[in-house]
Amino acid sequence: MRVSLIDIENQFDHHLIEEGLDLVRATTEYTVQQPDLAHFQVHASNPVYQVDILMLQDGLVNVKCYCAPFKKSKYCKHAIAALFLLRENLQHARKSRVKSRHESTVTDEALRKMKITDLRKFVSAYAVSHAVFKAELLANTLHLTRKPDYASMLLDLTPIDKYGQIRINRNNIKTLRGIISILLKQAQQLFKEKALPETFQILEPVINHLYRLIAKFPAYQQQLSIELKTALRLFELVCLQPMAPRLQQAAIKMAFDLSSRESYFFVKSTLPVLRLVEPFVLEQKLRKSIIHLVEEKIKTDHQNLIAWSTLLLRWGKAWHLQLKSKEIFNRLISQLPAIIQEMNQQKDYEDLLYVLQLLPEDYADKTQYRISLQLGLKAALLLSSEKDIVQIASALSRQYFEIEAWEALLHSNEAAAKKVIRHLQQQYVAGQHEPADLLILHALNVLHLEGDLLDRLMDLQDAELMMEYDRELKKDHSDTVVKFYAIYIRGIKEAYGGLIARQKLNNIFSHLKSLDLYSAVADKLKTMDTRKADNQENKVIEGFVFDLDGVIVDTAIHHFQAWKKLLKEIGVTIADEDDHHTRGASRMESLEYLLNKYGLKKTSEEKLELATRKNEYYLKAIEQITPDDLLPGALQFLIDSRKAGLSLALGSASKNARGVLEKLDIEDQFDAILDGNDAKESKPDPEIFIKASAALHLDPSRVVVFEDAAKGVQAALAAGCHCVGLGDASTLGAADLVVASLKDTSPQQIIKALS
Ligand code: BG6
Ligand code: MG
Repeated sequence: MRVSLIDIENQFDHHLIEEGLDLVRATTEYTVQQPDLAHFQVHASNPVYQVDILMLQDGLVNVKCYCAPFKKSKYCKHAIAALFLLRENLQHARKSRVKSRHESTVTDEALRKMKITDLRKFVSAYAVSHAVFKAELLANTLHLTRKPDYASMLLDLTPIDKYGQIRINRNNIKTLRGIISILLKQAQQLFKEKALPETFQILEPVINHLYRLIAKFPAYQQQLSIELKTALRLFELVCLQPMAPRLQQAAIKMAFDLSSRESYFFVKSTLPVLRLVEPFVLEQKLRKSIIHLVEEKIKTDHQNLIAWSTLLLRWGKAWHLQLKSKEIFNRLISQLPAIIQEMNQQKDYEDLLYVLQLLPEDYADKTQYRISLQLGLKAALLLSSEKDIVQIASALSRQYFEIEAWEALLHSNEAAAKKVIRHLQQQYVAGQHEPADLLILHALNVLHLEGDLLDRLMDLQDAELMMEYDRELKKDHSDTVVKFYAIYIRGIKEAYGGLIARQKLNNIFSHLKSLDLYSAVADKLKTMDTRKADNQENKVIEGFVFDLDGVIVDTAIHHFQAWKKLLKEIGVTIADEDDHHTRGASRMESLEYLLNKYGLKKTSEEKLELATRKNEYYLKAIEQITPDDLLPGALQFLIDSRKAGLSLALGSASKNARGVLEKLDIEDQFDAILDGNDAKESKPDPEIFIKASAALHLDPSRVVVFEDAAKGVQAALAAGCHCVGLGDASTLGAADLVVASLKDTSPQQIIKALS
């Protein structure tokens, strides 16, 4: 009797099949022997029967039993039970041998010879509940045929309703997922065996099918995403292998077609398919069309704007392609922090650093800006990119006073770490901004700059902070530590007196005892009290603060020329007397004045653009300046002032001041440098000079300001400083003293004249 081993169920009468299956269940002991390659014997000992099965071509077998009913009708329940038992046996044998793919089994042989259309017919004939089994059989078998059609097979196995529409619901989704995961297991197996084209043959239809199903039945997205993720991850692994060009092309095509679909979506914690095929996208034409696709997506797929933008920026950089559309670029700017976060998720650290550079320093959302810098630092550290570490860690420590960032900086470049701290020391007077103080103290301690550390602690007069560092400081600087506590304790006593003071100081006293400094501090307090001589009256001048442009260097003219050029471009010729109004005033203040005077209305973006353009002209003009451009007598005056024991500061409205000082090589002449970044208010507001005096630790009444602008003179006087006007008495008349130039006077003369 000839039967198809694969299709036993459909070849016999329903009752007979039932009888056969009953017998299978009742058979508790049996063996399957294989006397030769195509001959099998099923021996059952409980209950007893024996059946011979001969393998023929095309998956058919010839079956023979020795019982009476068989002799009569050529079939019997034994034969059917034996067929079932053999089939199961062969499947098990195959499963346990999947590792050695080359070992061919009889079933493989049989199935290999079977036409794919027959296989499909066979599959379709089954009841839905058998679908998983069918898929398993097919998955194990299909790759043996030349052109397996997994796409149609998946469609065949997906439940449809009576109108031929795909229908999935709570009941059949499990079966469907089972089928897909069996196919994926097969794909994984093939991948292990390095059969890449075969793996891809399964993956492509599976991924496509899953995307289609999810688009159609979003309610099942979560469940189906599990298989989709597995498939995408396997696809990623495939793409990482060396692949034949044809396979690469097929992978690109799949990724491109899939991504072009309106319903395409990004799957969490997997890379976008287009990213996976990126290494094979070598032709410029193809790259352009991918970029084009992504640009279109940015315009239309708002939900995934960030994911698409991330890709666009990555490829724009990697493939050296310009982003044509300005509109797209503008959109990207506002998304940059989110893109940086996305790249961090995707572990795209190099791209992340690239995008970070596109982020403007004056990005409005400071929190986002900071997060971006933090992620940037993480990326730079992972990539050990010193240049980026220095740049980002400097920014984080300068702008956000992050101790960890500064530590990272110190680790990778000590000189840069020191520079940051020097800058902060100059920029932030002790007590001005707590986070800055905390970083500065920490750093000075780590750098063993004990002198500076003590100075700052003294200025801060904060015992809690001192207590963090004094154990070390005491070793070499016990006098200063003692002095600190004596001053502090006296201050508390004066402010509170009696009981409250003692309560507040209890803690400090026991700390001092533990440091063994208690009696030294007590002695110091006694001598301080007896020497309460009042030298308050003896007010002397102890510091000079210099404006920069027009006082130390001849750059005032370049500022004015730059304004002239800019205004000319927007159709206005400005008058010479406008110089008096822009001199000394901040960039924005000057622009506002000029726009106002000439009746020009501009939006705030336009104003920003104009101010930037003016600055570009100015920077161009001063590009070549050298120490020769110092105004006559300026350097000598600075040197003499220092010799006279005065503290010196710069107090300029210009944001370019530091750059100019560097070019002039006179940064070291100053104890403190305050520039346009340090003051919110423009001169004539006194802010900059109050801050400069504080930076020198001096009361403004002990400071002389040197100014060439009327607005500057006003600011100095409003701060409570003395003021020397440099230039023309007709405009600077308000100053305490006007001289033509620094070369015509000396520090001593100035002090004498003003005392
Ligand atoms: C002052 C100049 O020193 O700096 C002004 O006298 C100028 O003319 C101002 O506007 C701001 O300069 P900057 O370099 O920040 O544009
Ligand atoms: Mg000036």
